[in-house]
Amino acid sequence: MFDFKPDATASKAEVYQQLLEAADALTTGEPDGIANMANVASLMWEFLPDLNWAGFYRMGTGVSGADELVLGPFHGRPACIRIPLGKGVCGVAVQSGETQCIEDVHSFPGHIACDAASQSELVVPIVRNGAVIAVIDLDSPRTARFDDEDAAGIEALAKLLSSRI
Ligand code: SME
Repeated sequence: MFDFKPDATASKAEVYQQLLEAADALTTGEPDGIANMANVASLMWEFLPDLNWAGFYRMGTGVSGADELVLGPFHGRPACIRIPLGKGVCGVAVQSGETQCIEDVHSFPGHIACDAASQSELVVPIVRNGAVIAVIDLDSPRTARFDDEDAAGIEALAKLLSSRI
């Protein structure tokens, strides 16, 4: 049995350190990337407060043959399955190769609403050998839920996972 639990008295930086250590422990030596993303989606859901969606989109190929994002393991409500590059917060994160920390999704042009409850969003690209292979996506029902500390914490997680998914 795995019993990873966030410490209720921990600071945000400490919570991310604990999340990183739990993700490292769960994924080290495990070659199945889907299993690793599934466990890390669960950890993010358990460790991070005020989320309504936590998970992954992976780079895949659409019916036209173009690269696009495809839904991966997650916790939360069922979500849109395919996102073209450059579309939505996730597609912009891939195209720019940069973290997108969106205080108010309603003011983000082209935001794709998968759950009407979402107010703010953090999307971090996972890069391997210079190419984006997936993104981590977190949604919150609270406006401005994510800050620079959240971005740094999820970026550290993305780095850890780049060779494990
Ligand atoms: N809001 C995202 C779509 C994915 S859901 O949030 C799970 C976007 O605009 O790309």
